[in-house]
Amino acid sequence: MFTKKLIEHFNTLETPFYYYDTELLEKTLTAIKKSSPKEYHIHYALKANAHPTLLNYIKEAGFGADCVSGNEVKRAIECGFDNKKIVFAGVGKSDKEINYALDHSIFCFNVESLHELQILNQLSKNKNVTANIALRINPNVDAYTHKYITTGLEENKFGINPYEFDQVLLELKNLEHLNLIGLHFHIGSQIQDMTAFKNLCLRVNEINTWFIQKGITPEHLNVGGGLGVNYIEPDKEAIVDFESYFNIFKEFLEVKPKQEIHFELGRCIIAQCGSLISKVLYIKNGINTNFAILDAGMTELIRPALYQAYHKIENISAKSGSTTNKYDVVGPICESSDCFGKAVVLPETERGDLFAIRSAGAYGEVMSNHYNLRDAVKSIFDKEV
Ligand code: LLP
Repeated sequence: MFTKKLIEHFNTLETPFYYYDTELLEKTLTAIKKSSPKEYHIHYALKANAHPTLLNYIKEAGFGADCVSGNEVKRAIECGFDNKKIVFAGVGKSDKEINYALDHSIFCFNVESLHELQILNQLSKNKNVTANIALRINPNVDAYTHKYITTGLEENKFGINPYEFDQVLLELKNLEHLNLIGLHFHIGSQIQDMTAFKNLCLRVNEINTWFIQKGITPEHLNVGGGLGVNYIEPDKEAIVDFESYFNIFKEFLEVKPKQEIHFELGRCIIAQCGSLISKVLYIKNGINTNFAILDAGMTELIRPALYQAYHKIENISAKSGSTTNKYDVVGPICESSDCFGKAVVLPETERGDLFAIRSAGAYGEVMSNHYNLRDAVKSIFDKEV
């Protein structure tokens, strides 16, 4: 992945920075289009990475946008996404955010509570418009993933619970500025056990049937995102097996005539396209291993500190065949959780070596922050080299 020429170029740049492989992104987008049936609509989840350069490739491939804030809706519109392909979810949409999305006539609001239905109706009424809505449902399906990124269990704050459905339908009769067009589900992220998606399909079938029996056929079923990637061996599986993923929905989702299926994929589109490139500042003795202290930290990539997430770490300056050593790879931030990996076996490392922290394209740059008054992280693209 990192050619000699590329590493030489990296050496001329100020670190840390994100490096994005847009060629891989284009291949990934092509793979998704090839393996998903025409009647499946794919919305890219901007929360994974909202860099305009990357969004442009995704928009050009014809994907829609899945947004969770007013600013994400704004970014999608500014980047040229068709407003009729923008969905807007989130448990706490502010009036300002809702008004912005109403003004831009987005395709659909994924509404997460009874209270939000009432507020959205009122704000739509004020503008004399009707908002398309999908009910975000909490299906109580386990995603078998990290608890911080599990969203579809009753204990999670997301979505409307089935025991509230009767009340919601009753209420909707009075909410004349809302147009119910669909049901929305999202059970979590970095899902690698495909039975979670099968279980989701079975639950969607039950809920879909319940609504149909009540005389409402949702035109759109949105099954969310969540497909995981291979963090352990990113090069072995640079592009996820989309074929198997979509086959689960083809096999288990009972789609009624005229119903359309929507997905909101983030991580599996963009994770493997990005690496965080950082320089070794110091080598320091530890008790059992040495510390390799980088110029990037949890401010640039928070996933290891926040979710104990694994990212493959490579010394891309090392010569092949050099002896190895164990390092705790840490950043400069004043927190002991500022650690990218413990006892990582790496080639003998010295000051100035470049490290690549892999699979960082999703939830990397977007979650970076200015703690310790750190500079904003920069990014570069393969086509600039
Ligand atoms: N749709 C909804 C409603 C979501 O909440 C999410 C992610 C997605 C779609 C996209 O999920 P994906 O395909 O990317 O798994 N910061 C965490 C991940 C948080 C995911 C939040 N919601 C991480 O770094 O692992």
